[in-house]
Order: sequence, then structure tokens, then C-alpha cells
Amino acid sequence: MHPLQDDRRFALKGPMPRRLAITGGTGFIGAALIRRLAADGWRLRALYRSRRAAAPQADVDWIRGSLADAESLSRLVAGAEVVVHCAGAVRGATPEQFNRVNIEGVARLARAARRLDPPPRFLLISSLAAREPQLSYYAASKRGGEETLRSAAQGMHWTALRPPAVYGPGDREMRPLLQAMQRGFAPVLGRPEARFSLLYVEDLSAAVAHIVDRPHWEAGPFELHDGHAGGYSWREVIDTFARIAGRHVRPVQVPAAVLNATAAINQALARRMGFRPMLTPGKMRELTHPDWVCDDAPLRRATGWRPAVGLADGLRLTLESFSPSRA
Ligand SMILES: NC(=O)c1ccc[n+]([C@@H]2O[C@H](COP(=O)([O-])OP(=O)(O)OC[C@H]3O[C@@H](n4cnc5c(N)ncnc54)[C@H](OP(=O)(O)O)[C@@H]3O)[C@@H](O)[C@H]2O)c1
Repeated sequence: MHPLQDDRRFALKGPMPRRLAITGGTGFIGAALIRRLAADGWRLRALYRSRRAAAPQADVDWIRGSLADAESLSRLVAGAEVVVHCAGAVRGATPEQFNRVNIEGVARLARAARRLDPPPRFLLISSLAAREPQLSYYAASKRGGEETLRSAAQGMHWTALRPPAVYGPGDREMRPLLQAMQRGFAPVLGRPEARFSLLYVEDLSAAVAHIVDRPHWEAGPFELHDGHAGGYSWREVIDTFARIAGRHVRPVQVPAAVLNATAAINQALARRMGFRPMLTPGKMRELTHPDWVCDDAPLRRATGWRPAVGLADGLRLTLESFSPSRA
């Protein structure tokens, strides 16, 4: 359907809805964003490639397309007041696999948004990894995405968030680690002395909902975390888990040599066979980086947003989501 006809269809539905276009809605974080933004009254258009969300909400219009297809992006953003760009490549073995999505995808979506009159505001879900672009192809591509947006925006208001590791119901990356802890041992993948921030997924959604409601945006990029200044050590996370699970959890340092060897094999096989592994030499450099602690003071000053879910509550809610009745 032509975007203008689409707009008329929206207009017939009564009072002017606030319109928001979103990418990545079929993924872990994007699905949580959709739930929150729909609950806040936004009329949503969401991009999907081949599968929609498992439980499509009535108030979401799904647009089939991809970040490689400019025409589908124009249909996605038509009439939007805000664009939330959450889609991203999070696994891969070559720079191209990340850059095609995390840089070129940002450029294409920003161009589609900029052509609207008036242009929407554009919020990019970047990553704390963008702070250390030398570590991995992923990190470099997320930094590249921020820089691309900065130069492509050309008068369009934009902002970018740099979440640390995000966890919560629906996350497949951290689930094996949490399930191992439920069985009584915690594989420690990074350095024991490393410190890192964390963020519960519903708090990231709350931050986005808070920002998109504000009339004035500062560009950022902004770091954010769960309110635990100074981040966590592995020991603190394991102890918190043990407390809420009511059991002893033994940390097991996974030898770096084993992980490095697995990562190197993954990388070589992936290049030949074209699959996208999570554990690569770049991911190892990310995992062993000693400082992934966020500073959320600039975001607090700019927006007044405060997190609500600490680690103990976030872990409890995540574990509850594993129980068969909730699966
Ligand atoms: N999870 C974290 O801890 C974390 C931390 C910091 C930042 N982030 C950022 O948050 C964003 C979402 O991450 P996530 O954990 O939710 O990942 P995810 O579950 O893998 O979701 C990725 C989403 O991006 C979509 N996507 C990927 N390539 C695309 C393309 N070429 N065209 C259109 N859509 C595409 C996927 O669509 P399909 O369903 O079709 O594959 C999916 O909806 C990413 O930008 C990531 O860099 C994540």
C-alpha cells in the first residue's frame, strides 16, 4: 500500500495516534521495546524479515522488509514521529557481516527517515561495545553506526543509547550461564577481577519509553545501567544469584586457552561455511576486557531517567521466566 493511503487508514481510527516505527522487534530487546511502547499508547509499525513476533500485538503493524531494502524502510517510517532502530547484527565472523547491518543499515534507515517532512526523531540502540571499537568487528560496527547516524542525520534530531549486557526473559545469550548457575556452578568466562555493568531488559525499555516521550533530545551517545554504580564483579553476580536461588554456586574459571581455541576454530569454520558464531576471537577480546562499567550520569542529567530493577529482582524475574508454565 502507498504510504499516504496507509496514513489515511490510521487517520480514520479516531484521535491522532502517536506513531513510532521500530526495527529489531523480532529480537530479544526489540520485543520488550514493542511491549512497553504499545502499552504506552504508541501506534507501532515494526519491521520484520521472515518471522513476526511470537505473539503479535493488535496495535502493531508489521512491515515485511529488511535493512538492505530501502523501499521497505520508507514504508516503515512513513508518518512516524519517532524511529527506534534496534535491529543489529550481534554475531558474525567477518567485518562485512556486521557492517552491512550495523553501519549500512543505519545509513539506509536514516536516509529514509530524513526524507520525511517533518523528519522524525531517531533513537539508535547502540552498545557499550562502541566505546572500545578496537576490540572486535562487532564493537567497531556499533561505533561506525553511531558515527554514520551523526553524519546522516543532517538536521534530524537523534540520540543513541549504549546499553551494557542486557538480560531478562527472552534472552538466549545469557540463558545457558544462568541455567548452569541453577545447577550449582558458574562458568567465569572473563577475568575474575573484571567489572561490568548490567541492565534488565524492561529497564532498557523504560528508558527508551521515557526518552521518546520527551520533546527535546540531546544526541549522546548515552551509557545506562541498572543503578549499581561501579558495576559488578563476577563474584558479586554469583553471590547474588546464590542468594536468590537459595543454593551454593561454585565459580569455575574457564581456561582462556580453551575459549581462545574454540573461538579460532569457530572463526575459521564460519568463514568457510558462512555461519555466524557468537564465540570468535573478537568476542573473546570483549569478554576479557577488564572494564565494562557504564557511567549513566550524563543520561540522568539530560533526561531524568532512573532505573527501577536491581540485579536481585532482575535475576529473580528472569529465572521465573524459565519455569515450564511460563515458557
Ligand atoms: N543483548 C544485549 O546484551 C545487547 C547489549 C547492548 C546492545 N545491544 C544491541 O541491541 C540490539 C538488539 O539486540 P538483541 O540482543 O535483541 O539481538 P537479537 O535478539 O539477535 O535481535 C536482533 C534483531 O535485529 C534484526 N535484524 C538483524 N539483521 C537485520 C537486517 N539485516 N534487517 C532487518 N532486521 C535485522 C533481527 O531480525 P530477525 O529476527 O529477522 O533475525 C532481530 O529482530 C542490537 O542492535 C545490539 O547491538 C544488545
